[in-house]
Amino acid sequence: MKALFALNVYLLKYRWPMLAGIGFVVLSNVLAVLVPSFLRQGLDDALFQSLWMRGEGLGDLPDRIGHLALAFGAALLLAAVAKGVFMYYMRQTLVVVSRKVEFDLKNQLYAKYQRLGEGFYRQHFTGDLMSRIGEDVSNVRMYIGPAIMYFANVLFTFIAVLYQMIKVNAELTLWVLLPLPILSVSIYHVSRLINVGNKRIQEQLSTLTTLAQETFSGIRVIKSFGAEFAFNKRFYEEGLEFQQRNLKLAKVNALFFPLMLFLMGLSTLLVLYLGGKAVEEGTFSPGNMAEFILYLNMLIWPVASLGWTTALVQKAAASQKRINEFLDYPEPQEGDGVGYAFDRELSIDIQWFQYAGKSEPALHGIKGCIPKGSILGITGKTGSGKSTLMQLLAAQLGQDSGARFEGDIRLDGLAVSSIQKKEYRAHLAYVPQDVFLFSETIEENIMFGTQAQDRQADTLNKAIEWAQLQRDLSQWPQGLQTLLGERGVSLSGGQKQRVSLARALVRDADLYLLDDCLSAVDAETEQAIISQLKIELKGKTAIIVSHRIAPLQFTDEVWVLEEGTIAQRGSHESLLEQEGLYKQLYEMQHEQA
Ligand SMILES: Nc1ncnc2c1ncn2[C@@H]1O[C@H](COP(=O)(O)OP(=O)(O)OP(=O)(O)O)[C@@H](O)[C@H]1O
Ligand SMILES: [Mg+2]
Repeated sequence: MKALFALNVYLLKYRWPMLAGIGFVVLSNVLAVLVPSFLRQGLDDALFQSLWMRGEGLGDLPDRIGHLALAFGAALLLAAVAKGVFMYYMRQTLVVVSRKVEFDLKNQLYAKYQRLGEGFYRQHFTGDLMSRIGEDVSNVRMYIGPAIMYFANVLFTFIAVLYQMIKVNAELTLWVLLPLPILSVSIYHVSRLINVGNKRIQEQLSTLTTLAQETFSGIRVIKSFGAEFAFNKRFYEEGLEFQQRNLKLAKVNALFFPLMLFLMGLSTLLVLYLGGKAVEEGTFSPGNMAEFILYLNMLIWPVASLGWTTALVQKAAASQKRINEFLDYPEPQEGDGVGYAFDRELSIDIQWFQYAGKSEPALHGIKGCIPKGSILGITGKTGSGKSTLMQLLAAQLGQDSGARFEGDIRLDGLAVSSIQKKEYRAHLAYVPQDVFLFSETIEENIMFGTQAQDRQADTLNKAIEWAQLQRDLSQWPQGLQTLLGERGVSLSGGQKQRVSLARALVRDADLYLLDDCLSAVDAETEQAIISQLKIELKGKTAIIVSHRIAPLQFTDEVWVLEEGTIAQRGSHESLLEQEGLYKQLYEMQHEQA
């Protein structure tokens, strides 16, 4: 329950519509209890009149009473309509507030997701993130909206109806109320069973969706490995489980209404029996009896919903607890914002870097200085730590990831960790090893990292030229406006890499980090791109990771990484003169060519 306190800010924010909503609840209840009493008076007057009609003359008294009955009938109608109007506004205010809170909460959570770091994303699956921002937020909405609304309604209905009933007959009231607590408690239990059932269905649904999603995205692999039958079987089995859980819930659901009707009938029976006796004794009018049955009916639904709302609140509390877990998750530490300058050099001094859960360091003893305006090439066998180094330079591996990092990276002597991440990244263009493109147009993908006001046609054209994309673009009738992904065209591996490269090149950055971003491009194109970058990126600093040796000849210095440390360093030419990995790789690649 305490978890729900986190929502108090929102309750406070929307206090006026909430209060108005509760006001409407009170008004609609006051009018609701008037209806049965009007009915009683109208009924009794009509009965009285019909009794006298059979007797002998009493002047115009029967007529007067007849008019009275009519008047009460009209009042009854009016009260019922007004009650309906207030109920409409009650929903309009409270349910609207709950939708607003849902919207706010989703945005709050989404913004938090954007701020969380590497460590968080390593620990949590996408499905979990989705379900907390989707289903859990919906559960919380049910608390703010329906739960609060029904709860207020129960409270005021109870007060109003009990007051009226006791006024009519206190003893009878006590009797007919007896079955109600049983109703409330049993509905609470049935609701819990329903919630448990629902949860199990949701879980199975998510398994089923994940399976279906994976099947669709991996359909080519499935077909080429002839695994269709196995997948069909799995889908069938998971689907069967889903169906069985649904049927189980249907059974529980089927209990719900009969139970309610049974207990309701019991109370009505009590009114008929005890009320009938009272009418015989003359302490109760037939109108009273009708009135009582109406009151009772008015109580049934609130009492039933009390059990239901309690279950709702419990569910919401559990969901809010899950949401709070994410909202309270520590964010990666920001630099102190001591400024930013990159006029002279980037110096790297990594004594030790070890990923969480690993026994060996991914990097150790890496020390070097990259003067501004130069290009550094990095090569080395797979797993030698190239990408780890690039990610560290891109400030992607924060302390929160649980990694052990000793050493520092400095710009003009200023530690990168003390520069605000946002500031640092604004001067950075990073092309990660695995390409990620959005399902938008090619132009949107390339212009992704630039501010709208900086977008100019010639920077776009230049980036396209440098990434050697012109020829590819002419293949598609829509050119730059070609839509990628889901319903657009699919690019080849090399095309994707070059779009991703162009995305970095449109940025007016100080430091370009290109992590093996041309591996799927043919050797000739790679060489053409890197030799051109050497000319175009004048004055800018770049670090280029490549498995191919040939393009590294355009760099100023090359580091050869081996098992997390620099095994060889020097210019392309000087490295070719030494015996070592670099020369071996060069010769191997030349034999192939
Ligand atoms: N997120 C991670 N968590 C734990 N270990 C990791 C992680 N990323 C990489 N490693 C490990 O760190 C080592 C270096 O990996 P890295 O990706 O830096 O190699 P690389 O030189 O870029 O290889 P490649 O040429 O294949 O891209 C490997 O042993 C790898 O298993
Ligand atoms: Mg790599």
